[in-house]
Amino acid sequence: MNTKTVLIPGVAGFLGQRIALEFMRRGWEVAGMDVVEAPNAPAGIRYRRLALPDPALFDFIQEVQPAACVHCAGRASVPLSVSDPAADFHDAVPVTFALLDALRRAAPKCRTVLLSSAAVYGNPLRLPVSEDQPTAPLSPYGFHKLLGEILADEFTRLYALPTAVVRIFSAYGPGLRRQVVWDICERVLTSGTLRLHGTGEESRDFIHADDIASALATVVERAPFQAERYNLGSGQETTIRALACTLLDALGVNLEPEFDGSVRAGDPRNWCANITAVTALGYAPSITLESGLRTVAAWASAKLTSQS
Ligand SMILES: NC(=O)c1ccc[n+]([C@@H]2O[C@H](COP(=O)([O-])OP(=O)(O)OC[C@H]3O[C@@H](n4cnc5c(N)ncnc54)[C@H](O)[C@@H]3O)[C@@H](O)[C@H]2O)c1
Repeated sequence: MNTKTVLIPGVAGFLGQRIALEFMRRGWEVAGMDVVEAPNAPAGIRYRRLALPDPALFDFIQEVQPAACVHCAGRASVPLSVSDPAADFHDAVPVTFALLDALRRAAPKCRTVLLSSAAVYGNPLRLPVSEDQPTAPLSPYGFHKLLGEILADEFTRLYALPTAVVRIFSAYGPGLRRQVVWDICERVLTSGTLRLHGTGEESRDFIHADDIASALATVVERAPFQAERYNLGSGQETTIRALACTLLDALGVNLEPEFDGSVRAGDPRNWCANITAVTALGYAPSITLESGLRTVAAWASAKLTSQS
């Protein structure tokens, strides 16, 4: 049997690297592209340095003939999308269009997964949030992710390109130097204090990057690819106060977290994913928040200590 190839745009990023390793573990060849130099991408992959959109993408796709594509190239920051919506739009919409159009022309049967976000829901009507709840983004990031989802609909309905959309909740794991888990580690380890935005009662559904990689490989191998949507989280709601306490424990620091009561633009209040659809494909989360945070605490301690 010929080995199948998965194409991963954004392969040098936080999720792209983990996803590449998971596909390699499952016996796939990996072809990746990113804007960075090759040494930053995982070893053992066929790598092309490309800043999308680029006409060379068509040739690369024709050359590698991917059976699947997991689109990880893009931005992943709500605050940056608020301060620079044009840059966020560019990476979410024209880049996604260029990829889908190149796949339509060069590999029209490629099973293509778009990495969307829970940000498309805004403040959900009910928890846990299921895929059929209305979308109501609160940030440019959420609006632009929704536009990317509409592009997936377009290419599946009009050109029969097989697509699926995965709405990721709050990703975390070693290597991610942004968002609340990293912010807590950095503040605690560099200043010895912890004061955070909000009330502490805001909640998120945290999912470890290795569970995301495993879920995405399961989607690629088992989903129908009719432009359907999948929520991807742990299915567990965790308040930011509980997250902070568990992480402080993992860091071995005895501290009470403080909250300033403020509300940040673009931030929804509570999230928890209904993950029935993705688990029906055979995926099951395997990393508890406690054990996942221990790995982040060990990594962040090593990084922040070696910098000082
Ligand atoms: N990390 C999260 O919490 C999270 C949650 C939901 C969805 N997502 C989505 O998953 C995807 C990957 O997120 P991440 O956390 O790995 O982000 P990341 O920033 O670590 O990685 C993105 C990668 O894409 C590359 N890239 C960006 N624009 C590009 C372009 N024009 N051409 C080629 N490469 C380009 C970057 O160089 C980077 O290596 C993003 O679309 C993000 O919106 C992430």
